Amino acid sequence: MRSVPCSPSSWPASVQGGTGGRTAGIGTGHVIRGLERSEASGNSGSMSALHPPSVRVRNVVGQDMPDLLRLDREVFLDDPMPHSILRQFVDMFADHLLVAEDEDGRLCAYVLATPPHRGRSWIVSLGVASAMRRRGLAEQLMRESLENLRTEGAHTVLLWVEPTNKPATALYDSLGFVPDREGPRPDHFGPGADRILMTLHTTP
Ligand SMILES: CC(C)(COP(=O)(O)OP(=O)(O)OC[C@H]1O[C@@H](n2cnc3c(N)ncnc32)[C@H](O)[C@@H]1OP(=O)(O)O)[C@@H](O)C(=O)NCCC(=O)NCCS
Repeated sequence: MRSVPCSPSSWPASVQGGTGGRTAGIGTGHVIRGLERSEASGNSGSMSALHPPSVRVRNVVGQDMPDLLRLDREVFLDDPMPHSILRQFVDMFADHLLVAEDEDGRLCAYVLATPPHRGRSWIVSLGVASAMRRRGLAEQLMRESLENLRTEGAHTVLLWVEPTNKPATALYDSLGFVPDREGPRPDHFGPGADRILMTLHTTP
């Protein structure tokens, strides 16, 4: 169920632009407003009637652990990360784990990537609280993460996604990720847990 995507000037046009601004330096945090995205894109879907609170995107810190665990368990009901694994991801990859917090300071979304190694990075996990979905939050987090990876030298970003996870596959497809021609790999994440590899390359 876990998986994930990336972007920059030399990346596919589908990954660039979009909601506009990124740029906030990691660690300083910045505000995004999902509703503005819907209105700007002319998306008159179910979100247009909602008034989502602003969210602040920043890097994870150790004190986020309880809230991050709570969020991960809410998002991945049947496959939450063990506390010990999430703890080590926070320890190892704080520079590559972006969280979004709502106006009350509660975490409502996160994306975890691996630092580029020989030009390749992986999106390990992406999740948005159910009450905050369809407001452009995952897309914004992905673009932010991809741009950060690009500036660090990543030219390829990969992720595994459950073939039946339509929201996620649609998101990754819209960002320019391409599914592996081999199709889903049976039991890749364990018995019955098929996954398909999706890849995003920079343009030459
Ligand atoms: C997948 C997930 C991260 C999307 O988060 P989100 O914030 O709702 O996504 P966004 O609002 O940024 O949507 C961006 C695009 O993704 C696609 N998308 C998102 N949710 C969708 C849905 N329910 N149905 C179809 N497409 C969807 C659309 O292309 C959408 O663009 P659009 O709104 O212009 O149509 C969220 O549904 C989630 O956390 N799911 C459970 C965990 C999970 O599956 N994580 C990913 C795999 S590890």
